[in-house]
Amino acid sequence: MTADARPRAPYGMEYARIAVPDMAETIEFLRYHVGLQLEQHDDEYAYLRADIEHHCVELLHEPGRETSHTVAIGFSVESDEVLDDLRERVLAAGLEVLPLQDRMKGLCQRGFGVSDPNGLVVELFTEFQEYAEAPVIELRPLDLVHPFIATDKYDETLAFYTGVLGFLPSDYVGDGTVFLRAEDRYHHSLALQRNNEYYVAHLCFMMKSLDHVMRGRARALYKGVPIASDMVNHSASTSIAFYMFEPKHGPRYELCDGHRVFTPEEHETHRPRRMAVDPRNIDVWRAAADDWGRF
Ligand SMILES: [Fe+2]
Repeated sequence: MTADARPRAPYGMEYARIAVPDMAETIEFLRYHVGLQLEQHDDEYAYLRADIEHHCVELLHEPGRETSHTVAIGFSVESDEVLDDLRERVLAAGLEVLPLQDRMKGLCQRGFGVSDPNGLVVELFTEFQEYAEAPVIELRPLDLVHPFIATDKYDETLAFYTGVLGFLPSDYVGDGTVFLRAEDRYHHSLALQRNNEYYVAHLCFMMKSLDHVMRGRARALYKGVPIASDMVNHSASTSIAFYMFEPKHGPRYELCDGHRVFTPEEHETHRPRRMAVDPRNIDVWRAAADDWGRF
């Protein structure tokens, strides 16, 4: 299918909005362990950024919580035409078009929100504000690449992201995991996993190099942050990554290097692979078909 003949997906992931029990602690966690820069905050919210985009994480301070909760994800859209088309597709699917969060209205030109089948709000917008320069921090991510969503409504959620929002399947692992790409042509800008409960399982940040991934891992080890999954060489996206997890600070944070970006031609012609449910189809460094233990 040519680019003109298919409904366009959003461009790419810009931010996650995460409610946390102790915002000051989470800000410090994200500065030291992920490399984000704090740009703006008051007692109720904070914006942190990785690169020139206005923010990649918005924190909401909710002291009553025991653990964090991801309440929304934001995706940029390449033009007004695509935004209008997405809005029409949402309405045609019988879904409610929600207003953007009030603060977000001032940080883009136009946009709207829609709840996915799990109740996760997806905000779509044009012309996200940006900074002239990236943060002057050597050890920082270049981009927020994707959320990974575990869901007990897998089929419905897959139908929403592909059929309504236009994401393209890049690969499947069995009938239980799918990697979906958007117009920024990352192998995946969103991934879904069939599960017996819904939760945002991780957020993936792309570091500048494998060296920086390893420095992030060293910081996690030094501070005793639990490493939920250690060095993984991803079969589908070709990235090498590790995952750290402190439930009060957000979902698992994946720091990666080498995430595959499709060429414009591959983006239009790629046939999603149907990979067997085998640990080596998740991490090529697993030793055998029964080497599941470290996930
Ligand atoms: Fe990931």
